[in-house]
Formats: sequence, structure tokens, C-alpha cells
Amino acid sequence: DWSMENFIEIEVAKIQEQVGDKKVLCALSGGVDSSVVAALIHKAIGDQLTCMFVDHGLLRKGEAESVMKTFADHFHMNVIKIDAQDRFLDKLRGISDPEQKRKIIGNEFVYVFDEEASKLTDMDFLAQGTLYTDIIESGTDTAQTIKSHHNVGGLPEDMQFELIEPINTLFKDEVRELGKELGLSDEIVWRQPFPGPGLGIRVLGEITDEKLEIVRESDFILRDEIKKAGLEREIWQYFTVLPPIRSVGVMGDERTYDYAVGIRAVTSIDGMTSDWARIPWDVLEKISVRIVNEVQNVNRVLYDVTSKPPSTIEWE
Ligand code: XMP
Repeated sequence: DWSMENFIEIEVAKIQEQVGDKKVLCALSGGVDSSVVAALIHKAIGDQLTCMFVDHGLLRKGEAESVMKTFADHFHMNVIKIDAQDRFLDKLRGISDPEQKRKIIGNEFVYVFDEEASKLTDMDFLAQGTLYTDIIESGTDTAQTIKSHHNVGGLPEDMQFELIEPINTLFKDEVRELGKELGLSDEIVWRQPFPGPGLGIRVLGEITDEKLEIVRESDFILRDEIKKAGLEREIWQYFTVLPPIRSVGVMGDERTYDYAVGIRAVTSIDGMTSDWARIPWDVLEKISVRIVNEVQNVNRVLYDVTSKPPSTIEWE
């Protein structure tokens, strides 16, 4: 009989058998898939697992802290946090084309990961949160297509790792169930999809510290109000974007000339198509008032009411 408990038992035994007394490295992004893989492998081999978490400076507010709190403090895993913010932001300076930004972020991720991983000379295995759907979507050449569109961005070809992909027979909903069974919090198990390039593709055009701050703070307010309204599970993805425009406003007796923040919130089954989420107006009002009051240099809030197609979920 197939059950999640059986699955865990069987996979744990398989991992123990495969790994023996060797060591495993896991790239942890904080997303559902890599979190579940880390928890599962940790259950099997404990301290023989080392997780690597790269902070590229394009994460949401509080995200790095929350990953460290969960995996290092709560689960007592070996987690190495790589602070690579400056490296990424330097490489992105002056770049405004979305695909070029993606490429730079993906490549830099590989360089950083490779550099740091090569310092850990005793790792034999690399764990990946590849899902069944990732394999189907990208053909059978798993080593080449390692979640290339996802957080890990593809890995260096000369890496001498053997791959462990313990959830590559599962679908997303099963992964969530597995995560729950392994004791991961609802916050992690039900986390909305977050693109690998992160806030880097939500600051439209060239990325600056000031603009990142606006997106990060407004996104935080949006998430906070969606949570308070109990809408988290109904909405597939919700985030803010910063278009490269300013508009006129008024504050007190003063005319302002500041940024407009866009809110994107969609319902979807798989991200392939989506509809704009009908967030109640009173919730939208709270979000809008808080954003213009609490976020510096913003005087206007827009709501995106287009579905996919013809739009995409992201703005870049
Ligand atoms: P779009 O914007 O194409 O997004 O409708 C569909 C889903 O994919 C995510 N997305 C990305 N994920 N790297 C990622 O890891 C990317 O470059 C990327 N671009 C879009 C998007 O957040 C949505 O869930």
C-alpha cells in the first residue's frame, strides 16, 4: 500500500544505502522542493548532510533569516549561508534587459555555488529537488537540465558529484504532503512560487538599491495584508513590481514626483495560465494606503487586472 509514511521509510533506507558514510551537499533555496529534499535527506543521514544557501541580495524581506531559523536553528542542520549580495548587484549594474538579467543571475549563481562547493572537499553527492514534472518538461537528460528554469540555475558541468533526487517521482501536491509529514511548517509547505532571479525581475529595467528596497518593502506589506485577510491559499502568487516610471502626486502642500508600485496577484493551477485574483477592495485599500505611507518614494499604487495569456505572471 502506498502511503506517505511508507514513502518516507523506503526513501530514507534508499538514501542511507546509497550514501553510506559519505557526505551530501544540498542547494537550499527556501522554496518547497529544496526544503523538502533537505528535510528528507537530513532524516536519513543527519550530519552527513550540508546545505548551502546563497543569498543573492534579491530575496524577499526576512527570507534569509527565516531559512536559517528553520533549517539551522530548528532542524539543527549544517547550513552554510553565502552572502553574495554585492557580487550579484555589481554584475547587474547598468543591465536593463530582462533576459540578460536572468542570464547574469543564473550564471553568477553557478559560479558562487561552484566556488563555495569546491571549498568543501569531502562532498560526494549533490541533492536536488527535481520533481516528476521537471523531468517530463525537460526531457530525460536530467544532469543537463537540472531545474534550469528554477532556483538552482543549472550546475557546473565539471562538478564531480553523484546526484540524489529523492522526490523525482512526486508531483507538487505530494511534495507538500511529504513536507508536512516531515514536520515542515505550513509557511514553507504552502510557500508561493518564487522565481530564481527573485526581486531582480520585479524591479523592471535597471536594478538599483533604492528600487530593490521599494519592491522589498512593498512586497512585505502586500504579503502581510494577504495573510491577515486569510487569502494566502486562494492566491497562487502575489507580489509587487516597480515599473521605471514616476508620476505626480501631492503630499501636504507639496507636489511629489515619485514611483508607482504595481500589485500582481493571480490564481492558477500550474502557472501556465492564470487569472487575476479578485482581492476584496477593502483589502486592496489597506495595502495601497500602507504602501504609500510606509514605503519611501512611492506615491501611487496600481492593480494588474490582466490574465495569462496574453500577459505573463511576472512583468519581466
Ligand atoms: P510567467 O511570468 O512566465 O511565469 O507567467 C510563470 C511562472 O514561472 C515563474 N518564473 C520564473 N521562475 N526563473 C524561475 O525560477 C525565472 O526566470 C522565472 N520567470 C518566471 C513565475 O514566477 C511563475 O511562477
